[in-house]
Amino acid sequence: MSQDNLKLSVARAAIVHVPEGQIIGVGTGSTANFFIDELGKIKDRIAGAVASSVATAERLRSHNIRVFDLNEVSSIPVYIDGADEITYQGAMIKGGGGALTREKIIASAADRFICIADESKLVPLLGAFPLPVEVIPMAYALIARRLTALGGKPALRMQDGQPYRTDNGNYILDTRELQIANPVSLENEINNMPGVVTAGLFAGRGANLCLLGTPDGVRTLEF
Ligand code: 5RP
Repeated sequence: MSQDNLKLSVARAAIVHVPEGQIIGVGTGSTANFFIDELGKIKDRIAGAVASSVATAERLRSHNIRVFDLNEVSSIPVYIDGADEITYQGAMIKGGGGALTREKIIASAADRFICIADESKLVPLLGAFPLPVEVIPMAYALIARRLTALGGKPALRMQDGQPYRTDNGNYILDTRELQIANPVSLENEINNMPGVVTAGLFAGRGANLCLLGTPDGVRTLEF
């Protein structure tokens, strides 16, 4: 079974977890895109969605799903999104698609976080995937030195020969070789560096449930 088929299978499985008549949070990335396309088929059963990126908002609108600003919404029963890595405890690395800050904000507002991923994303220890850290542009060299002091190897994310800009206008440092034995403590440590917008560690607020696509079917992990 291809990776895309695994992503489609978890996107379909996630539809069962969409509450009737509510506004849900929707993530960013290729797995989230499969989910949005499935959501389009049941759009009349939800009130709308809060999007974690400009790309997700556009895809939701292309299915005529109403997109709400987070400031208009007082509760989000569920946030559904992919991950770059997820542990058996539900801690994640996210931000491969560059949407980590808005993803983290919506995840923090949601009652439940449902992670949808193919089985390649399940890991015993986070860190083989470079940790994305969103930074204020004026501070990127400073933060790169601080991440290096932590044992990481940060690289400024580039696009078309220019620093990649997030939807918030910031830069991303993709950081390899960090030892992530304690994801909550590393998340707090990096988030506390002035100039950091957010680290792509989702550990303090990890997933509540993971729907994992495998060739034998969708596995459900509860945390
Ligand atoms: C975007 C993310 C994505 O959830 C993550 O990169 C996984 O993407 P994909 O589903 O394409 O593998 O965090 O910022």
